[in-house]
Amino acid sequence: MTLRSVIRGSGSALPARAVSNAELAKMVDTTDEWIVERTGIRNRYIAGEGETTGTLATEAARRALDAAGIEASSIDLIVLGTASPDQTFPATATIVQNALGCRGGIAFDVAAVCSGFLYALGTADALLRTGAAKRALVIGAETMSRLLDWEDRTTCVLFGDGAGAIVLEAVEVDENDPEAPGILMTRLHADGAHGELLHMDGGPSTTGTVGKLRMKGREVFRHAVVNLASVLEEVLGATGHAAVDIDWVVPHQANARILDATARKLGLPEEKVVVTVDRHANTSAASVPLAFDAAVRDGRIKPGHLVMFEAMGGGFTWGASLVRI
Ligand code: UT7
Repeated sequence: MTLRSVIRGSGSALPARAVSNAELAKMVDTTDEWIVERTGIRNRYIAGEGETTGTLATEAARRALDAAGIEASSIDLIVLGTASPDQTFPATATIVQNALGCRGGIAFDVAAVCSGFLYALGTADALLRTGAAKRALVIGAETMSRLLDWEDRTTCVLFGDGAGAIVLEAVEVDENDPEAPGILMTRLHADGAHGELLHMDGGPSTTGTVGKLRMKGREVFRHAVVNLASVLEEVLGATGHAAVDIDWVVPHQANARILDATARKLGLPEEKVVVTVDRHANTSAASVPLAFDAAVRDGRIKPGHLVMFEAMGGGFTWGASLVRI
């Protein structure tokens, strides 16, 4: 027998206000046609007054706990991936912990931008398997709209706000049973040499301000396709699985063309890729758990399925995780 982190439930939350491409075209020099053709994005949600990364994360966490049938009081670990925390400190994870009414467990944020959920998942899984905790909330939550330069058409049309969460539980499973549920493997990487290609031009210790998001999109795109294909092959190779074994890929939703190119490189049919970038745009750390929850709730992802999560973002950071549901 071996200890594995098993997904017990998922949940997600979006701000009330949906914003179409046409609406953005009234603010900056862009068109619906350009955005759809270059990115696949048709809509995004933008946080309004009273909606923050913490409130969206709390709502997503409540829905995940409901889906799992698990009381918030039994959660002893919260790991939250975000690049847009409510405050510099305390960690948004502790804000969520307080809002849920649980106390005393471990709670912290991880900063890996668009790979934030993958980094949170890998960290929570490692802690659960050591016995440091038993039940975890893993959350990706963002209000990217508050980091954008709304006069920069090359970035402001790409991002959106939202949150997604899963409940993980440490469970003894038979490691010889190929159908046993749980996280089979997570691989995480970073390469700080490319920090300038996607960064904030401010921060607490440099400018004393939040700054604005800056991205050299074309270069990030090139790296994303190469790094994602490489980490997916790494996880498949290390777990002894082939691309054909995967039931669903739940990728970071940055650009429909990146999803297509990555699937093509692996020889995966596009019907197996969960796509929400058209509805949510790029929600950074929230995009993978938002897409996962959508596919669980509409019945595509079912118990027993083999699911690959993958993401790439600022840093650069990237990673993939193979999970039996
Ligand atoms: O989430 C973290 C990871 N992030 C990503 O993975 C993002 C990766 N990159 C991308 O998704 C794409 O590179 C973008 C969607 C950001 C850009 O698409 P692209 O096909 O690489 O376009 P481009 O940057 O090469 O720009 C092409 C043209 C430029 O005009 P010129 O120089 O050819 O005259 C841009 O100025 O499109 C222009 N452009 C726009 N036009 C209308 C850039 N933004 C816009 C816009 N509307 N919003």
